[in-house]
Amino acid sequence: MKFLKASLFLLTMLSAGAIAQTSRDAKMDQFISSLMQKMTIDEKLGQLNLPGAGDITTGQASSSDIAKKIEEGKVGGLFNIKTAQKIRDVQKIAVEKTRLKIPLIFGMDVIHGYQTVFPIPLGLSCSWDMPLIERSARIAAIEASADGINWTFSPMTDISRDARWGRASEGSGEDPYLGSQIAKAMVRGYQGDDLSRNNTIMACVKHFALYGAIEAGRDYNTVDMSRVRMYNEYFPPYKAAVEAGVGSVMTSFNEVEGVPASANKWLFTDVLRKQWGFNGFVVTDYTAINEMVDHGLGDLRTVSALSLKAGVDMDMVGEGFLGTLKQSLEEGKISQQEIDMACRRVLEAKYKLGLFEDPYRYCNIKRSKTEIFTPAHRKEARATAAQSFVLLKNDHNVLPVKKSGTIALIGPLADATENMTGTWSVAADFSKSVSLLNGLKSAVGKQAKIVYAKGSNLTADPKLEERATMFGKSLRRDNRSAEEIRNEAIQIAKQSDVIVAALGESAEMSGESSSRTDIGIPDVQQELLKELLKTGKPVVLVLFTGRPLTLKWESENVPAILNVWFGGSEAGDAIADVLFGDVNPSGKLSMTFPQVVGQVPLFYNHKNTGRPLAEGKWFEKFRSNYLDVSNDPLYPFGFGLSYTKFEYSDIKLSSNTLRHGQEITASVTVRNAGAVEGKEVVQLYIRDLVGSITRPVKELKGFQKISLKPGESREVSFKITEDDLKFYNSNLDFVAEPGDFKLFIGTNSRDVREADFKLE
Ligand code: BGC
Repeated sequence: MKFLKASLFLLTMLSAGAIAQTSRDAKMDQFISSLMQKMTIDEKLGQLNLPGAGDITTGQASSSDIAKKIEEGKVGGLFNIKTAQKIRDVQKIAVEKTRLKIPLIFGMDVIHGYQTVFPIPLGLSCSWDMPLIERSARIAAIEASADGINWTFSPMTDISRDARWGRASEGSGEDPYLGSQIAKAMVRGYQGDDLSRNNTIMACVKHFALYGAIEAGRDYNTVDMSRVRMYNEYFPPYKAAVEAGVGSVMTSFNEVEGVPASANKWLFTDVLRKQWGFNGFVVTDYTAINEMVDHGLGDLRTVSALSLKAGVDMDMVGEGFLGTLKQSLEEGKISQQEIDMACRRVLEAKYKLGLFEDPYRYCNIKRSKTEIFTPAHRKEARATAAQSFVLLKNDHNVLPVKKSGTIALIGPLADATENMTGTWSVAADFSKSVSLLNGLKSAVGKQAKIVYAKGSNLTADPKLEERATMFGKSLRRDNRSAEEIRNEAIQIAKQSDVIVAALGESAEMSGESSSRTDIGIPDVQQELLKELLKTGKPVVLVLFTGRPLTLKWESENVPAILNVWFGGSEAGDAIADVLFGDVNPSGKLSMTFPQVVGQVPLFYNHKNTGRPLAEGKWFEKFRSNYLDVSNDPLYPFGFGLSYTKFEYSDIKLSSNTLRHGQEITASVTVRNAGAVEGKEVVQLYIRDLVGSITRPVKELKGFQKISLKPGESREVSFKITEDDLKFYNSNLDFVAEPGDFKLFIGTNSRDVREADFKLE
């Protein structure tokens, strides 16, 4: 009875919610329809135009070039402009000087935090901690909205299996399931449950679609793949963002099935809107429409028309829509209805953000002074960064380092304040980031002595270093010979008790247009590392990187490796927390580390092939393998060590048969068998042994992050239903096929326990 009452209450609430939503939508429709009735064709096209802000200095908004355009009603929104004051000034032009007073939307690449910078997304994903990730997006939204911004070009959910691609740093790695969980967490974090609140912002899932699958890892390159692969392996995170209610979607630069995404009607109309029910608006990537001229699809007028017809609503920077759509309309190449639809969607976004009610909603000067880069946010960023680090090796418990004696900190990334935040940290004040040197110093205080030397430049080649340190992220190249710089460091290192080597990539060595064919630690740094090891002192490699690197030599020779990615504005303190054992590392790789670059793309959820290599084998003639290197990764997906050890029991299955409509439970007991408290990510994988199409050798289907005290055990259970076994078959139907399955639970994708079950 009680249950019935509760359910009735819930139902009433739910339908009340649905009714409220419908009436809100009806109100919005009415408002926009009546506004659009007043709009001229030029005003409508203006709404589809998203220029960059250019250089508007505070107080000078009305005299800027962009001001004129806004006054003429040729601008729907602006991006890359910040501060509540400047945005207020610009908004004022739109709402006071244009005929219809339509407010602008203000976008920015708030990718991993705003001024308080969190780890790069690839690092963040290694926390496998959804509340933490959601919280990081929440803080980013609070800060960005306090500075005038109401729309972010995040999350980036492109699945990436190719470490050569610099933009792997911006995503959540190689796995569709993990990527989907993260996409949802980020959308929730940015948008909250009410977009019109002044501290939530609209998210934009990007880059739709398949950008991470570019050939040879070379940025902006071609993509070509089967639909079965798209639906099963690459689409899920975008779809998850749509299901989480993401307000906007960005097109990708690459082509899909021979048609660049920005003109791909199948992608934007059939898949995104019809199949997935997306009802927000689509923006192109930066000049993506214009680039279709080079793709070879026709002149600007042609490609702009194609783009609108494909279902794209807003044109970033290129002004193809603004400049050509009117003529295309006159020539009958596009319809009035198509323009109206795009304009309506842009206006709806503004409505949902509450901008028609109060165009200055996000321009609260007081908030901008009190809610950005606050001690509380920085504290959370520091704790979050520590969760993103992945301990790759720790022989003889070299780590944690004691806070005593002399610690030599060596390497070009050791005192590199400007490089701590990593790629896409456009709102950061680099000078406020905590370098590793400062982090170590404040952690040890007077208990230990920190000595420092640079030891090497980033790379031997000054030109390469220049390309890899753009956007104010200099590493202040030392013009002495490599030997001189190195020898100075060796002298210092010899006098220490332990050496911390801060090596790897600079911040801009990954990110957009930063593809690499050699994904090792650069030359001079490797030479330095070899010399440091020769001192006979214990060496800890603190690895900065925006992508998986090839570390075969390092993994064989350096006793301890802590991968810290780019941890954000508080990275230096966070690294110190982990190095000294105040925080026990618990990050797990979200992307496979190959042994050599020639194995790439290398990922755990691959197919078996007809000639798989027997387990444990290195090479067999006429099997799928290489002559010169085994098929194994250096570090598999899901891998990461801790300062403690976790023991796994065998798997207990509630039943070996899963029947239609029912569920089974798989459990293991995990025990902390070490001496310190630690967190472990318990991972569930499934393999479908026989299918109507070939199925991956393993697929992540669940995970739980648990914390255990020394000696403590916990049973961890996963429920498995038919839904977990579904995939897109060759008709693109989402089905579970009866038959035999293997289930694995373990500490990473390689080291697992197994059990078998059947789906009936
Ligand atoms: C990138 C996008 C980004 C946009 C706006 C493009 O070059 O591909 O990810 O959101 O610029 O800055």
